[in-house]
Amino acid sequence: MATALVIVGASYAGVQLAAAAREQGFDAPIVLLGDEAHAPYQRPPLSKGLLSGKTAVDQLALRGPDFYTEQNIDLRLGARATALDLAAQRVQLADGSHLDYGWLALATGARCRPLPVPGATLQGVHQLRTLDDALAVQQALGRSTRACVVGGGFIGLEVAAALTAAGAQVTVIEGQTRLLARSFPESMSDYVAAAHRQRGVTLELGRGVEALLGTAGHVESVLLDDGRQLGCDLVVLGIGVLPNVALAEAAGIACAGGILVDACGRTSEPNVLAAGDCANMALPQGRLRLESIQAANDGARAAASVLVGQPQPLTAVPWFWSEQHDLKLQMAGLPAHGDQTVLRGDMASDRFTLFYLRDGAVAAAHSVNRPAEHMLARKLIALRAQVPSEVLADPAADLKPFSIPQPRG
Ligand code: NAI
Repeated sequence: MATALVIVGASYAGVQLAAAAREQGFDAPIVLLGDEAHAPYQRPPLSKGLLSGKTAVDQLALRGPDFYTEQNIDLRLGARATALDLAAQRVQLADGSHLDYGWLALATGARCRPLPVPGATLQGVHQLRTLDDALAVQQALGRSTRACVVGGGFIGLEVAAALTAAGAQVTVIEGQTRLLARSFPESMSDYVAAAHRQRGVTLELGRGVEALLGTAGHVESVLLDDGRQLGCDLVVLGIGVLPNVALAEAAGIACAGGILVDACGRTSEPNVLAAGDCANMALPQGRLRLESIQAANDGARAAASVLVGQPQPLTAVPWFWSEQHDLKLQMAGLPAHGDQTVLRGDMASDRFTLFYLRDGAVAAAHSVNRPAEHMLARKLIALRAQVPSEVLADPAADLKPFSIPQPRG
């Protein structure tokens, strides 16, 4: 007999989709397939608390141990889907078995982009995406005195901070001329670069990696494209991710930079949904493949609404956060959509919010060590609040009145 809903992928999007389906009244059988051996776990601590020792593995569970049985969600671990037969509504599994479905949801996530240079498979070279990856880095970190991190994105910078705290000398090698270029404008990139340098991290910006060199199978240095060799005993690669679209693509589901979905998570196939890092969503801001937990959760909720026949498109403001050294960075909205910036606070104090306005309305905000202000900023973005720039720029001026929805009419 067909399972009413088969979900492929048991991380944030997959688990949230199952949970939201139940919350929204979907009471038919659900099978949740995860290809890892671990029960679904939280990912943010993998590059932060787990590495620093503040978070233990048994604190990482995404849901309590009874959640899946209580919600009648059949969670199957170590279960890898290998092919989809859309005509037969069937998922093929690696162990040779198959599952027939009524609805299929793809929450296949993303994988680390490989570094295509000689030596990338030497021992001592790590990536960081899964719990197993993080445990391997954690083990290596205690022994490392000189580490190179390739990629000055979120993974690279969080790992650089953790390695520095563990006592290693760390160099971050970034191909672009500035850090976090995918998410940040130049002023924020410059701020983050200065903050890392002040805390002991060496940055090599605008530099390529030609090869990773080693002896006896273990990495010993990174060869840069200017001919210099940086000695190291550990390399962590954080050079971005690629969406896992192979299953969908092979089955003929429309993909282009991710599985193409509408704002409710509907793919080109009538009874197939997708959410999370693998999904390229049609949103009011345009087509976006957002790599964040919040987008995975919100996309999953929207997809669940389709299952119960009450489609609710995704509308939430994108947000995410990062922790690097003593800095808590919080980001909301899409700065690329702003046409003016206003700084509230002083960057040198490591406590500020940079607001991005579009046509005078608050469109995005980046905060450093300003959590309460950031929560307000998110409200302002959702309301597209028109706040005079001199008010935004004055840390003493109260923003709360602008965060209250005004009655219409
Ligand atoms: P990323 O896309 O944020 O950064 C990758 C960086 O590597 C970019 O700056 C890019 O210019 C650079 N790069 C690419 N190829 C390179 C090369 N050959 N040599 C040197 N630099 C190169 O991706 P990242 O940091 O790998 O993170 C992976 C995923 O995990 C992303 O989706 C990210 O958003 C997510 N993540 C989110 C966090 C958060 O929200 N706090 C924390 C950690 C990861």
